[in-house]
Amino acid sequence: MLRVLAFETSCDETSAAVIEDGRVLANVTRQQLVHSEFGGVVPELASRAHARLILPVTLEALKRAELEPHEVQVVAATRGPGLIGALLVGLVFAKGLAHSLGKPFLGINHLEGHLFSIFINHPEAAPPILFLLVSGGHTELVVMEERFRYRLLGTTLDDAVGEAFDKGARLLGLPYPGGPHIDRLARQGDPGFHRFPRARVPGLDFSFSGIKTALRYYLEKREPAWVQAHLPHLAAAYQEALLDMLLEKLRAAVDQTGLRRVAVVGGVSLNSRLRERLAREFADCEVLLPLPEYCADNAAMIGMVAYHRAVAGETHPLSLDAVPDLDLTEA
Ligand code: KG4
Ligand code: ZN
Repeated sequence: MLRVLAFETSCDETSAAVIEDGRVLANVTRQQLVHSEFGGVVPELASRAHARLILPVTLEALKRAELEPHEVQVVAATRGPGLIGALLVGLVFAKGLAHSLGKPFLGINHLEGHLFSIFINHPEAAPPILFLLVSGGHTELVVMEERFRYRLLGTTLDDAVGEAFDKGARLLGLPYPGGPHIDRLARQGDPGFHRFPRARVPGLDFSFSGIKTALRYYLEKREPAWVQAHLPHLAAAYQEALLDMLLEKLRAAVDQTGLRRVAVVGGVSLNSRLRERLAREFADCEVLLPLPEYCADNAAMIGMVAYHRAVAGETHPLSLDAVPDLDLTEA
């Protein structure tokens, strides 16, 4: 029996989870609401909110798992990538706990956590797996050759796709984070209402900054009342352009690698139109998606990586640092 107590504080979710033998016993996540009035995450406010929330979230996770702190065997936390001040809160808390309990510590790569979210509901999924990681901070095509070994095929040259959702939503006057609002509005809209230009980027890389600018110019030429009346159509058309760009590259990656086991992870993998199109357009592949509660940032996915690494005999020194720009090859 191996139990991991894991923490995730890389951005604006404060989360603690308990994993037992690869199963989630508890996963408690508090999305910080202080950022909504600023239209984006304010790093200093995120750190302070993490510091305030980390203990209550930990106690709640242990309570739901019906465990005392000394009944866990490993303590783990995200060490990067993310906001340095935010990362440090979870990392220092986890190290302090590991030290005082006399348990081993593991520092985990947040991106690897998103990839491992798939093993919560698909524990049997065997590499190689082609991953499309789509979140507020990342847009990456990655092959998991085997557990803990990754090959990056493509990444965004500018904005992440979640960022493009959020910035587009802001231009449309929707609250932050805007991805879920665009998703919801788009269900009542016509994706063919207007064709926003799709960026042409060579290879398997992405670019999302041009389309955001295209939306801005488009909106500047129109009356606010007209925009308001056509919100569902605009959301649907904008979303469709983002999804076209994602799915075109995913298809190219499938063709290039010959891999037919595909996983789509990260906050944007919650998108209902994306899920619908994956089922329809990738029927020739086995498409793996995380359960909704493990798509956005959460500690359970961090605990899953820690569990598998602990089983492989890994531990890390308490001197391990937070690394804000950690990439997957350093996992
Ligand atoms: O994985 P995540 O929680 O955080 C990062 O690691 O960045 O992803 C957050 C992103 C935000 O940009 C949010 O707008 C987007 O995921 N998102 C969505 C949906 N739900 C969350 N984007 C599109 N449709 C959704 N339903
Ligand atoms: Zn994330």
